[in-house]
Amino acid sequence: MRVNTKEVTLKNGQTAILRSPEGEDAEQLLNYMKIMSGETNNVLRYPEEVTLTVEEERDHIINNLTNERDFDIAAFIDGKLVGNSGIFCTNDKLKVRHRVKLGIAIIKDYWGIGIGDILMKHCMEQAKENGYEQVELDVVTTNKAAISLYEKYGFEICGTVAHAQKLKDGSYQDLYMMIKFL
Ligand SMILES: CC(C)(COP(=O)(O)OP(=O)(O)OC[C@H]1O[C@@H](n2cnc3c(N)ncnc32)[C@H](O)[C@@H]1OP(=O)(O)O)[C@@H](O)C(=O)NCCC(=O)NCCS
Repeated sequence: MRVNTKEVTLKNGQTAILRSPEGEDAEQLLNYMKIMSGETNNVLRYPEEVTLTVEEERDHIINNLTNERDFDIAAFIDGKLVGNSGIFCTNDKLKVRHRVKLGIAIIKDYWGIGIGDILMKHCMEQAKENGYEQVELDVVTTNKAAISLYEKYGFEICGTVAHAQKLKDGSYQDLYMMIKFL
């Protein structure tokens, strides 16, 4: 689905536009994913695993826009896509249609100015409006900033997956599973 566009003022006084990415944002979205996944090990992909072509990404965006309940909300500053968040149902079977997963990531230059906070707020409100009953996510156990953000929005740790991710240097990352009932 396409969320309503919002204009917000960030902590540093800059204006951000929050809206669902459109087909024409495909190239920007791919660039954002490549940059962001190279800046932190706290997301699933390495940059070289961002492999969709612009056309494939455009199709993916258009699919998301036609989905009845799932959505992305991106943040744009001066037209540049600097962060993205999304709610996605991983399985549409009747027994699990009340559950949804959340993902969020901001480009490093824009950390700490309130973008994560405002994206989180809108994702959680829209997820509830769309009829979801619980939002779930996975987070690397050492990712203090993200855990603090999630706790701020009422998420609680409900389990740990040891050695959930293995980095190129052979080290492992554990993941917390977190949940918030809406
Ligand atoms: C985690 C992330 C989304 C936070 O976004 P952000 O825009 O920098 O966060 P905001 O400035 O909106 O801050 C919102 C809240 O996040 C938490 N937070 C943000 N930066 C923090 C830091 N350096 N240390 C501790 N908590 C922090 C705080 O709870 C903060 O609330 P407060 O301002 O009332 O203290 C961002 O750092 C990011 O994209 N990181 C890389 C990708 C990632 O880790 N994604 C999550 C994967 S599960």
